[in-house]
Parts: sequence; structure tokens; C-alpha cells
Amino acid sequence: MSDTHSDAIVFFGATGDLAYKQIFPALLGLVRDEGVNVPIVGVAKAGWTLEQFQARAEDSLDHHGGADPASFAKLVSALRYVDGDYNDPHTFELLKQALGGAKRPLHYLAIPPSLFGVVVSGLASAGLSENARLVVEKPFGRDRESAAALNRILLERFPEESIFRIDHYLGKEPVQNIVYTRFANAMFEPLWNRQHVRSVQITMAESFGVQDRGAFYDSTGALRDVVQNHLLQVLANLMMDPPTGEDHEASRDQKAALLRAVRPLDASSIVRGQYRGYRAVPGVEPDSQVETYVAVKLFVDSWRWAGVPIYIRAGKCLPVTTAEVLVDFQPPPRAVFEQAPAVGHIRARLSPDVCMAMGLRIKRPGEKMIGEPVELTLSEHAASLLPPYQRLLGDAMRGDGELFGREDIVDAQWRVVQPILFDPPPVAEYEPGTWGPEAADALIGSDGPWRNPEPSV
Ligand code: BG6
Repeated sequence: MSDTHSDAIVFFGATGDLAYKQIFPALLGLVRDEGVNVPIVGVAKAGWTLEQFQARAEDSLDHHGGADPASFAKLVSALRYVDGDYNDPHTFELLKQALGGAKRPLHYLAIPPSLFGVVVSGLASAGLSENARLVVEKPFGRDRESAAALNRILLERFPEESIFRIDHYLGKEPVQNIVYTRFANAMFEPLWNRQHVRSVQITMAESFGVQDRGAFYDSTGALRDVVQNHLLQVLANLMMDPPTGEDHEASRDQKAALLRAVRPLDASSIVRGQYRGYRAVPGVEPDSQVETYVAVKLFVDSWRWAGVPIYIRAGKCLPVTTAEVLVDFQPPPRAVFEQAPAVGHIRARLSPDVCMAMGLRIKRPGEKMIGEPVELTLSEHAASLLPPYQRLLGDAMRGDGELFGREDIVDAQWRVVQPILFDPPPVAEYEPGTWGPEAADALIGSDGPWRNPEPSV
């Protein structure tokens, strides 16, 4: 372990849902695969004992990924638990004791943003913010202003380079592969611009509804839940300029530049839908106007991308669960053969299975100049091996912020959606199991049709 590596992990909200579903499995992965051997302190106000907390870890792992006995034993022996109110300075004194001699703890705030302020000042007053790192969960704000206010709170106590804003899409292997494939091969760069790219489609479809997250979802909606963060980050990885220089911020600088060039949405560039039955979900308002489906049309106003339409859509209760990116190329300037000319595409499937493929047209054997579409698969896996939370927590412990949101990047993302957050067009109802409201077809118009991803096999 280098002397800049975090030497303890603290997670607030330790008895919550995120810890149960994501953090314990990620911690186990770090202990098992990376030999992480530091105190791991859970903090919450639940009246629990350490034994109850350890039992929760066991239950979490039973339901999310499993654990081999040796790694589980290591994880359990590293666990500590502090029970207390975040408003009480005594909680932070107990935390200090639990941390023993740790000099560079990583504090993970898996708690609602309304509690960030009280926790960061509790940490600072107890002397626990010095040389420490801070990991914060999404949603990072509700709009541009509230995100800026959150930043002010965090930046009062922690420098920007010690703040790690999680967007788990950035920790996904296939999102990294988009960047790798683009910049490890010279052949794509000459094509990656407005002369050759006709349009871009990004689809994130989920075949399930909002499940037990009604109250959260009804104050969020699809645009804030996944477009403002995950899908704009995918767009940035897909369309940013190549990073230059050796600076470790080179990649985030290019993403920030790309996102700043995205034209903010207006009412004519968005379609909102709500699946039939959503209003009956516990926690959802009976007359809710919150969208469970959204489709947007975007432009990147840069020399490279001016005029190339970008369509992003995301929804619950759609026919399949999958996330996919499609870059369509221009057809040949004139039709040499009788059949419709090839468009050609690059397709990156992000989940649940992973694939990168290139679409072309080739001639069918025979005398006639007749062809057919083919797809060359560049890589294909059942699923990504390294879970995003494990990847991201490991990076944060090493102090590597490349795959996290930066203050200016988060602001640039809010800037894109800000104009339609507070006065959006009405939602149109759609049937569960369909591809959303019909108005989405009008939105894509002659740039369409939407290319619906296949279900995974
Ligand atoms: C979360 C959203 O950030 O991402 C959820 O809050 C969504 O609504 C989830 O289901 C999707 O993540 P993944 O990794 O399953 O594609």
C-alpha cells in the first residue's frame, strides 16, 4: 500500500439500502481481489451492535454476489460499527476512536445530500477531514443551483482533488472500452466528426418499473435519475476530443469541454412519458406528472459535431433491460447499386451483456451486385467482470479521480437539462412493455427510426 493510499474506509448510511446492495459486495471484492486490509467503519443511527452490522454484511453478500469463507472472514474482522446521531459531536469522537491511528481515511457519504453539510462539519470538527478523501453518491443536487450549493458545502472542508462524486456508469467496463477503442486505434478518429457521423442514439431501457423506490423516483424522474448523469457521461466518453498531455486531469478536461458545448434542452427537444400503473406505486402522487420515460434530442455545438443529431432515451417498463450506444455513419454520397446504400454503424452494448460491434454492408455471393447488412463483433462478454462500485471505491482509495464527476463537469451536465427542469412539457401515458410514447417517433423524425436494442440471450 503506497503512502497516499487511504488507510481506512468509513461509510455513513451503513445500515441503508445502498450499503446492502452495493457497498458490502464492493468491499468484499476489494478485500478479495486487491488485498485491501484496512479498518472499515460503518456509521449509522439504527441502535445496532457490531454483531448486527456484521450479520447485515453477511446477508447482503448472500443476496448480492456471495462470498468465499476466507475473504468473508477478512472482511468481517475489518468491520467496526459506530451508532450515533450525525448532529452529535460524540458520534465523531466515537468514530475517531474506531479509526485508531488512521491518517488518511476515506469517508463515503451513502446518505441523502441534505445530511452532507452536518457530516462534513462533524468530520472537520473532530479533525477527521485532514488528509482524508470524501466519496459522495448521486443524486448530486436537483438542479444547477442546488448542485453548486452542495459543492460549496463540501469544498469548505475538502479540496476538490479529495472529493469523489460517484456516477457508477463511469465505473462500467464497457464505458471504458468506448474510450479505449476510440483512442487506441487511429482508424476511428478521421471518421469521428460531422462529415461522417449521421446521428447518435443512446438507449437505456429497463423492463421493470420503479419497484419500491416510489417516493424517491417521484421526486426525481428519468431525466434527473439517469440522463443528467449516466447518459450524458456516456455521451462525453463517446464524443470528447482525445486527451492531450500527461496531466492526470487530461481526460476530465476533455469531457468538461464536450459537455459545455452541448446545447441546453428546450421544450421542443424532449418527450416525456409515464407508464400506465405508475401512479398506483406506493410513494407516488396520484396525479404525478413525473416522467418514467424520457427522450431528448441534443446537439453538440462544436466544430467537430455541429449539426449531428444526438438522441438519448431512457425508460422504465420498456420491452427489455439493456443500455446501448449506436453511432450511425453517413450513407455513400450517391447510390452506385440498386439497393439502399449502407449506413454503417458502431454499436456498443453497455449492459447487461457487453459488446462492441461494427455494422457494414457486403456483397452476397453471386453474379448480382446485391448485398446484405453484416455486423462484425469486436468484443463480446456475458457481463462485465469488475463491478462498478468495486472499481470506483478502489480508485478513490488510490486517489485517482478520473472516473468521478468534477465540479465543473457536474455543473455542465446540469446546464444541459436546466431549462426544462421546472416547466417541462406534459407526460404522455404509455403501456408497460412498449417502447414509450408515440411522440418519441415524431421527435426522431427522418433521423430515425429508433433502433431498439435486442434482448440479451
Ligand atoms: C441508478 C438509477 O442510478 O441506475 C436507477 O437510480 C437505475 O433508476 C440504475 O435503475 C441503472 O443502473 P444499472 O447499472 O443497473 O444500469
